[in-house]
Amino acid sequence: MTAHMKMDSPDERNRLDHMAQGSVGAPLDRPEGKLKVSGRATYANEDHPEGTLHGVLVRAPVGAGKVRDVGRADVMALEGVRAVITDPRLLRNPAQGTADAAPIQGCDEIAYLGQPVALVVAESFEQARHGAQALRLTIDGGAAAIDPEADDAEIERPEKKQSSQGDLDSAMSQAAYTVDQTYHTAPNSSAAMEPHASVARWDGDMLELRGSYQMLNYNINELADSLGIDAEQIHLLSPYVGGGFGSKLGIAPEAVAAAIAAKELGVPVSVAMTRQQVFEATMRRSETRQRVRLAADAEGKLTGIGHEARVSQLPGESFSEPVTQATPFLYAGAHRVIGHEIARVNRTCAGSVRAPGEAVGLAVLEVAMDELSEAAGIDPVELRLRNIPERDPTKDIPFSSHVLAQALTEGAERFGWSERSKRPGTVREGEWMIGMGMASAVRSNIMQEAAARVTLQPGGRAVVETDMTDIGTGTYAVLTQIASEMLGLPMDRVETRLGDSAFPRGSGSGGSWGAGSNGTSVFLACEELRRQIAGRIGCDEAEMTLKDGTVTAGNVRRDLSELLDTPLSAVGQGEPGDTYKSHRQATYGSYFAEVAVNSVTGETRVRRMLGVFGAGRILNPKTARSQCIGGMTFGIGIALTEEIVHDMRDGHVVNRDLAEYHLPVNADVPQIDVMLLDERDPYSNPLQAKGIGELGICGAAGAIGNAIYNACGVRVRSFPMTLDTIL
Ligand code: MOS
Repeated sequence: MTAHMKMDSPDERNRLDHMAQGSVGAPLDRPEGKLKVSGRATYANEDHPEGTLHGVLVRAPVGAGKVRDVGRADVMALEGVRAVITDPRLLRNPAQGTADAAPIQGCDEIAYLGQPVALVVAESFEQARHGAQALRLTIDGGAAAIDPEADDAEIERPEKKQSSQGDLDSAMSQAAYTVDQTYHTAPNSSAAMEPHASVARWDGDMLELRGSYQMLNYNINELADSLGIDAEQIHLLSPYVGGGFGSKLGIAPEAVAAAIAAKELGVPVSVAMTRQQVFEATMRRSETRQRVRLAADAEGKLTGIGHEARVSQLPGESFSEPVTQATPFLYAGAHRVIGHEIARVNRTCAGSVRAPGEAVGLAVLEVAMDELSEAAGIDPVELRLRNIPERDPTKDIPFSSHVLAQALTEGAERFGWSERSKRPGTVREGEWMIGMGMASAVRSNIMQEAAARVTLQPGGRAVVETDMTDIGTGTYAVLTQIASEMLGLPMDRVETRLGDSAFPRGSGSGGSWGAGSNGTSVFLACEELRRQIAGRIGCDEAEMTLKDGTVTAGNVRRDLSELLDTPLSAVGQGEPGDTYKSHRQATYGSYFAEVAVNSVTGETRVRRMLGVFGAGRILNPKTARSQCIGGMTFGIGIALTEEIVHDMRDGHVVNRDLAEYHLPVNADVPQIDVMLLDERDPYSNPLQAKGIGELGICGAAGAIGNAIYNACGVRVRSFPMTLDTIL
């Protein structure tokens, strides 16, 4: 039995507020947490089948060219080496786009330095690594285009990514206050803790691949395309994922390599990427150059906004960092220009990294807003409050729910914003200069089609199954909670099984859509089961209370376990509908940061940080809060430390490990305070919940940049704001 729903109209029933079990909204610990911390959760490259061989990828040492020869015979003679694979499918570059169709880099040429060009397979990992290092490549070098700002850079301006409304130039010339500045953000790496790894084995024409992926529903098609087989021939498993942050939205080269090698050799093959390979051969967030123009009247009300970005990407790839995604609807202003340019370069494929778009686009816009508040002499919080639009200013449609004003006001109060010195560089503690800054948060809310099956077993236990993943975000927890709430079962009587492509197709994890989309499918399946239970005791579903494994209706009271002698099963399937077109859906929030900048060294320390967020119903305040803390931590990274350095001669990623690519560590991160606002969004889904995973990063870096300015009076217009940019 399938319960299907398309989100064509608001769901005002608000069901989850009226259930008896009290699971949704409770701060449940992760049900799989103990397995993870005790080492019993099996990640991609664990539990090798008997006889597994090991493959190590060989990287292209140049940024462009063609491989002529790989010196196969010498390496085949090495101890333990079983194959040197140069299948042209290896050279393809599975792209890391988000929801679009999987673009495949169709050429056999080397497109960037670090691109996998061969796989050496041996009996042990060490033998394979030795073989890969010994392989002598003969390459016809080509000319690599590395610099997206070069005069001769190949630049595309996709028509549908440009827009304009009114006349921004005259708004700028007539404005009481203006900002017209250009900002830069550095390339970022996803830097998931678990490197990409796959173990492939074939049974006839059936491939079983155990990997570490975010979107099995989509990855299975990418893998089929890359290998030239049908999706039905693939069984994909990713029960536990040690972080994704976008890098595992699409398949990476090791999955294709493992599958090809296992087929060719007739035994299971494991291919694990090294940390360096993850940096150079999975994907990166593009660097950005952003010109922001703001025009405001004497009261600080925006009359015009211009936001034009240049990003980079490999030739032929469709994804490009959606820098200006939230700009069209965040603030008011009648005259608008949005611009988007893509420089085609031979650098590692650009893809989604931790809140693609807003993470860097909003950080910059919020620094520009701070510059406007300075120019106009209006408090930064007040300036934003004056510019919250009533309706989506571009599309002229209403917002589904909108808590930016509340987040700004309550955040300012909680943080003690009124204590901020209005004059930069005036608060000192010895050699430290102290400042406060703030920024708005916004992230588009997305629903994806998703399905899940829920089975109620005769013993009064429930099992949830979907190919959805948990990339550390809390999917196991929230899906368990929804089933527990809807079926009136204590949470330890619900088991959630994820990450198996044999289960109904979920939404996958990405774009903060997982909990809302897959939560909806579990909700719908449970609603159907409730109707079936009501049918068995002959009452109306709405009259029935399910709690602690007992069903009560009028004076009937039965134990669920007595009611069932065979399992009851239902599939729930939800998909987005017209509420997208009728209402602009987004999540909102605010950030407040206090920093200390050292007047001698230019070093910045974040001393306090608060994030206030509204994301509809909060399904689990513990996992939601953890997501926000993680997001703000990455905000600190974008603001202060994270930067991929490309060698400008050949595109080589110079800092390709976690020692040299600097993520914020504990010593860089203060106690982060998170405040979650009470909100319901009936247009998002029947749960009335919106995505929260990425909201905590969207604009966070801007608050820190603004605090640096307030501390020392230096306006830095490039991220990260390292000490050399401040001094
Ligand atoms: Mo996300 S960067 O859409 O996994």
